[in-house]
Amino acid sequence: MTMPQDTLPPLSCPDPPPRPRVLPVAPQTIRQAADLLARGGLVAFPTETDYGLGGDATQPDAVRAIFAAKGRPADHPLIVHLAAPDWLPQYAAHVPDAAWALAEAFWPGPLTLVLPRHPRLCPPVSGGLSTVGLRVPAHPAAQALLDELGRPIAAPSANRFGRVSPTTAQHVVDDLGARVDLVLDGGPCGVGIESTIVDLSGPTPAILRPGGITEEQLAAVLGTLGKPDAPGRPRVSGTLPSHYAPRARVEIVPQDALRLRAQELARQGVRVAILWREEAHQALPGLPANVQIVSLPTDDVACARMLYVALRQIDALGCDVALASLPPEVGLGVAIADRLRRAAGPRESEERAARTDR
Ligand code: TXA
Ligand code: MG
Repeated sequence: MTMPQDTLPPLSCPDPPPRPRVLPVAPQTIRQAADLLARGGLVAFPTETDYGLGGDATQPDAVRAIFAAKGRPADHPLIVHLAAPDWLPQYAAHVPDAAWALAEAFWPGPLTLVLPRHPRLCPPVSGGLSTVGLRVPAHPAAQALLDELGRPIAAPSANRFGRVSPTTAQHVVDDLGARVDLVLDGGPCGVGIESTIVDLSGPTPAILRPGGITEEQLAAVLGTLGKPDAPGRPRVSGTLPSHYAPRARVEIVPQDALRLRAQELARQGVRVAILWREEAHQALPGLPANVQIVSLPTDDVACARMLYVALRQIDALGCDVALASLPPEVGLGVAIADRLRRAAGPRESEERAARTDR
C-alpha cells in the first residue's frame, strides 16, 4: 500500500497495513515521527547501536504499547533515551558523581546508566523497578527526534523479544511489520551491537551488559568495577541464557574444530552454516556442498557492526545449525563473545516469551 508522504494512517487503524510506513530521515519526517510519538504512537528509529522501538516515555499507554508490540514480558525494563546529559536530573532521582563522569566521557554514545528512577517516569517503563536505564544516543536522527519531541523516548531494540536486534530499517519491517506505526530509515547502524549497561544504583558501579563501550574504557574513568551478579541486582533481559538468537540453533565450537563438526553435521543431513571471521574461505577446504560460509570481518569494530546481519543471514539461507567460535575476550571482543554465547543459549526463555505473547 502506498500513501502520500505527508499523511499518516490514524493510530487506531481498523484494518492495519501489513507493513509499517518507512520514511527516510529528513527534517519533515522527524516532525511527523515526533507528532506520532506525542499522540502515543510507536516509531522505530535508528540509533548508533541498533534500531529502537520508540514510544513517549512519559505516557504509560505508549510504554505499554511498546511491551505489546515487542512481545516483551512486562517485568523487563526499557531503556529511556534523553536528548542531552542535562536532562539527567529530570529523570533520575539521584545523579551520583560517577554518572556525570561517564556522561561527560561517553555521551552521546553507546552507554546506558542505571540510576534511581525519578517519579516523573511511570513505573511500567522500568518493569516496576525503582531504577531506570538512561542513555543519550549519538545518532543524528535519534538526537533530532528527541529534540523535536522535547520528551524522553523509551525504546528497546525494535525486534520481537529474544530475537536478533535490528541494524537496518528492513530488519525492523521483517520483525515487527505493522506492529509499529512508522519506521524512520537512517541506513545501517554504525556500532551494530547494543549499548553497554552500567548499574550505578548500587555501592559500586557494575557492568550489567557488555556493549559498544568497553570495560577498559569505563575503567579508565571509574577505576574498579563491581561484580554484576551481586545479590539484589536486577535481571537484565539481554543477559537471559537465550537472547539475540536466530531461528537456527547456534553451537559454539573452537576455531580448529569448526570444519570437522560441520562435516559431521552435514553427513547427518543437517543444513549447516559456519560463522567464519576471515575474508577468504580458503582456510576451510573440503567442506560438503550443504555447508554455507557466512563471513564476518576479523576486525572487532567491523565484526560488531556486521554480527546481527550475519545471524539473520543464517536464517535467510535456511540453515538448521550455525557454528561459531568466540573471539579473544578483550575490548569489543567481550561484547561479541557475549552475544554469540546468548545466541547459543538454551531456548527455554524464548518459549516462555512466546507463551507471554499469546
Ligand atoms: O543500544 C541499546 O541499548 C538499544 C538502543 C535502541 O538504545 N536498546 C536496547 O534496548 O538494547 P533493549 O530493551 O533491547 O535492552 C535494554 C536492556 C535490557 O536488557 C533491560 O533489562 C536493561 O536494558 N535495563 C533497562 N533498564 C534497566 C534497569 N533499571 N535495571 C537493569 N537493567 C535495565
Ligand atoms: Mg534488545
